[in-house]
Amino acid sequence: MSHIRGRFSKAADKLAARYTASIPFDWCLYPFDIAGSVAHAKMLAKQGIISSQEADIITQGLSAIKEEIEQGKFQFKPELEDIHMNIEARLIESVGEVGGKLHTARSRNDQVALDMRLFTKEAISQTLLRVKGLQRALVGLAEANKTVVMPGYTHLQPAQPVLLAHHLLAYFEMLQRDTERFDGCLERTDVLPLGSGALAGTTYNIDRAFVAQELGFSRLSQNSLDAVADRDFILEYEAAASLCMMHISRLAEEIVLWASAEFDFIELDEAYATGSSIMPQKKNPDVAELARGKTGRVYGNLMALLTTMKGLPLAYNRDMQEDKQGFFDTVDTLLSTLEVFAGMVKTMRVKAENMAQAVKRGYLLATDLADYLVKRGEPFRNAHKAVGRLVSYAAEKGKPLSELTLAEYKDFSPLFEEDVHSISIESALAARDNTGGTAPKQVEQALANARKKLD
Ligand code: ARG
Repeated sequence: MSHIRGRFSKAADKLAARYTASIPFDWCLYPFDIAGSVAHAKMLAKQGIISSQEADIITQGLSAIKEEIEQGKFQFKPELEDIHMNIEARLIESVGEVGGKLHTARSRNDQVALDMRLFTKEAISQTLLRVKGLQRALVGLAEANKTVVMPGYTHLQPAQPVLLAHHLLAYFEMLQRDTERFDGCLERTDVLPLGSGALAGTTYNIDRAFVAQELGFSRLSQNSLDAVADRDFILEYEAAASLCMMHISRLAEEIVLWASAEFDFIELDEAYATGSSIMPQKKNPDVAELARGKTGRVYGNLMALLTTMKGLPLAYNRDMQEDKQGFFDTVDTLLSTLEVFAGMVKTMRVKAENMAQAVKRGYLLATDLADYLVKRGEPFRNAHKAVGRLVSYAAEKGKPLSELTLAEYKDFSPLFEEDVHSISIESALAARDNTGGTAPKQVEQALANARKKLD
């Protein structure tokens, strides 16, 4: 710490030092901090700002430090505040004064912005892979159960029959939009902030394009004040993560429902279920419940950072150090949720017979009966009313629609003929034959399209 307290005559208060330190949580930025420093040192040498021998000593020193950290031998010091100063102090300690040249033409403000962007780029590529992994699991389950029919719901009331594959592919679509959002976030994260200095740029003749190329950035930030004050990329990740968790949470909710004794549509593999400490018969869907629960924390992290940022004047303010814990937590939570869900979806057993029974119970063909009348000239509103009365008649008799006689049908509309008995779950499915519908032909096509996107 002493190396940046030149103007002070006393050390920081212990509690104040601990209060302001970020090393307990920003130490995990070390691979990015070191990669950024290596690129920076190379650039300084290339520009003749330091000698190439000095750059070599610095880069070798940095890789030795990386090794120390990875082997657990590095001593993180809270009094050195953050990862940047911990590494720099250790560098100077190990290679001598020349280590002090690394921070030429750089500030911790553009350095931390760089580290966070590098971290976020890596987080996004991991996220994209795992979103794909969950999509693959969903498509796999859909393909293995191509002909399974289930009730489709609105208001959680049985509505119309759908293919299970169609239902699962709805989640594929949500996750595909998540992918697009993370792709967009990546594009805007992929901007090099280094070279912005503390806020106004730097007086040295640096080569920002060289550093960008070394670190794999496709663009340079265009305003130094913005570059050190901008955390939009983190907020975008957190917003995209919130949406993605919301999607997973909805799937989680359905898994909880489907695994209940009342629905009994699926059985979770034992590896993804937990027992009760008191009730021996229980097999609980805790993984799904926790995903649903963790979604709240991911939203909270987004709100926290939005709130932190909203009143900050340009450029860097220390408040921005608060970007880290929530963000790291969101990344960890999203990545682990995606991974565990892929495993859970892959291994769950579909109880096709129970789904089929549920389809038969719920008068799910009522819409098709109304459509039948409409096609024979009845205005839809009248048809809707007639079938409504028909359904309540059947329910009173405790009969499914398929067991009503033609005479009974005719009591509700003279337009009913013998062929009304050919309305079936199969015909209902097949009739919904538009792009995006649940007809087996359409779902087959949707599965093929999904597969193509995954390969
Ligand atoms: N630990 C700080 C953070 O995470 C690094 C940047 C500090 N810059 C400064 N001028 N104090 O934001």
